[in-house]
Amino acid sequence: MQPVLWITSKLPAEVVEPLKTWADVRQWPTLEENMPHEKLKEVIQEAEIIWTIMGDEVSRELIESAPNLKIICNLAVGFNNIDVEAATEHGIIVTNTPGVLTDTTADLAFTLMLTTARRIVESSNKVLSGEWNYWGVNQFAGMDIFGKKLGIIGMGRIGEALAYRTKGFNMDVVYHNRNRKLEAEEKYGFSYRELDDLLKECDFVVLFTPLTEETKGMIGARELALMKKTAILINVARGGIVQEQALYEALKNDVIWAAGADVFEKEPVPVDHPLLSLPNFVALPHIGSATLATRRKMMDMNVESIMSYIEKEEIKHSIN
Ligand code: NAP
Ligand code: GLV
Repeated sequence: MQPVLWITSKLPAEVVEPLKTWADVRQWPTLEENMPHEKLKEVIQEAEIIWTIMGDEVSRELIESAPNLKIICNLAVGFNNIDVEAATEHGIIVTNTPGVLTDTTADLAFTLMLTTARRIVESSNKVLSGEWNYWGVNQFAGMDIFGKKLGIIGMGRIGEALAYRTKGFNMDVVYHNRNRKLEAEEKYGFSYRELDDLLKECDFVVLFTPLTEETKGMIGARELALMKKTAILINVARGGIVQEQALYEALKNDVIWAAGADVFEKEPVPVDHPLLSLPNFVALPHIGSATLATRRKMMDMNVESIMSYIEKEEIKHSIN
């Protein structure tokens, strides 16, 4: 009997069709709406293989309700949506997509730095709405990027790729991790800082840690207050790392100058979220890895994981 493969989002036919030779493929049918959690609870009970996206919360409870489940393939590098400890305890493999999205996501983080610093969205909206009716000397004046100091919290694959991009902008790069990266420090010429020191001295602070118990809420009112009044915070990592209410207050009260985020605690972010009302906040809809080529590579990696499971080989891209 073929293993039941449940795909929780609508993926392109050219990726899904070939799998039908090997598995009993069942797929969420609509692009416009993601699979509701109640449906996920139901399908996980049938699945031997489940192909998830980062909005799918695969909790211990769900894992323990899934008698046939053997492998969870997550269409993302981040896997905070999956209780990996519970999966491991139950002998279930979890796979993800590291590496193939590194450059694309670093490009997006740098784009968000430029966009936020130069007030691109705010000023473009004024043109589009017909409200650009005079030229003023400080009108839409932003912050320089060239020659400024960038602090990266979470200097992993994407953090390093971002640091590399700043060379042409003559930026001074410092970073904070739990472990120092001496080889990379030498290769790229960046240096290590304790978290508070990094926050105090940087013009741009960019987050690239995973969301874990340790990083959850890591940037709150205390940390924002340490930052320069002229500083910009960029979050392309995960929403839960920043305390959103504290960020709202910091932006509204000029504690920091601006912020940009590709990720939110709740996604899609509700349109009445207070952050969205601020002119010094730039919001993107979780598009860090969203280029056609990169999304294809991510899907191909998940297919490799699935096929290695079906062919009873060593599982590719497993994290546990
Ligand atoms: P990675 O290579 O594993 O890098 C993560 C870095 O975070 C590591 O260097 C790690 O170093 C550091 N870190 C972990 N816990 C920390 C802590 N408590 N304090 C300080 N540093 C900590 O991962 P990656 O591929 O660069 O991806 C990073 C994250 O970006 C993903 O987990 C994902 O959530 C997010 N992401 C978002 C998008 C998007 O579309 N917006 C796209 C891709 C990735 P130490 O272990 O030494 O601390
Ligand atoms: C996207 O957010 C990812 O983790 O790949």
